[in-house]
Amino acid sequence: MVRLSNTSNNVFGIDFAPAIWNASGAWCMTPEELHDLGKSKSGAILIKSTTKEPREGNLKPRYFETKLGSINSMGLPNLGPKVYCDLIPALRAYGKPVMASISGMKPEDNLPICTAYMDAGIDSLEINLSCPNIVGKPQVAFDFETSRKILTEVKAISGKTPVGVKLPPYPDPIFNTQMADIIKETKIDYVVCINSVPHTCIIDADSEEFAIKNKFGGLGGEYVKPVALGQVRRFYELLEGKIPVIGCGGITNGRDALEHFLAGASAVQIGTQLMKETPLVFERIERELAQELQRKGVSLREVIGRAKPRENQIEKMRNY
Ligand code: DHB
Repeated sequence: MVRLSNTSNNVFGIDFAPAIWNASGAWCMTPEELHDLGKSKSGAILIKSTTKEPREGNLKPRYFETKLGSINSMGLPNLGPKVYCDLIPALRAYGKPVMASISGMKPEDNLPICTAYMDAGIDSLEINLSCPNIVGKPQVAFDFETSRKILTEVKAISGKTPVGVKLPPYPDPIFNTQMADIIKETKIDYVVCINSVPHTCIIDADSEEFAIKNKFGGLGGEYVKPVALGQVRRFYELLEGKIPVIGCGGITNGRDALEHFLAGASAVQIGTQLMKETPLVFERIERELAQELQRKGVSLREVIGRAKPRENQIEKMRNY
């Protein structure tokens, strides 16, 4: 018998219906955008990465779309903790989780931002250790000692509020192992991977211009899906399915979302495609994911991490 498909999941103690929401950075900086997410089928409202003080961000043009994805060097434009915290009661009225992304410009900035969000009743804290766009500031997630310190300090004050960590794609699995050990040791509640693929360039051969003013930026969209799936799978294995992984990267339809779940994601986030399509994207991707699950006759929970090695040789590749 074909069971009813289902796109909801309880992840780190919170119900998400559906288990699909925005990636921090996409359509979540202004009050209008956050209300749009509230009215949409997004399973949660995740606020733009917040610094201790409001920021204007980098010079424009700083976001550019192509057929296969996007590049950005936004530079952490955000309205600061006060504006976002004041909005939380109105956002909670949509009846879905409201979550923060925290991106201190200095390690010691993270705690006061977390405290402000907790006092305002935030449902979870996503500590962003992987912003690639501040010139002269390396991504914290490659500095394991500082990462450990920040995560330890946040967990010491977060009480029952779940704490996640947003990670970059790591170019060698030794880094995933080191970060997974820190995540286990500090009892972090969930992992979000991946942030955009950093220091990439898109160039227009006609105009001979870079796509954005800063030349280098973070790549998202279809370009990055295999990178994201690799990171989701690595952390799913390293964390033994006990600490949930939230997949992010290259999801344009329900099948892409299913691939993330098969790799080991417990929920997924949408970035580039949300910017391309507006928050209407959630309704479509949820519907398509439901159809994929129904076709297989399985529940969402059953497919998580179920991807397996290919067994059969493809004839054309027989000599390889
Ligand atoms: C920005 C980009 C990111 O990838 C991120 O995680 C945080 C901020 C930005 O440029 O604003």
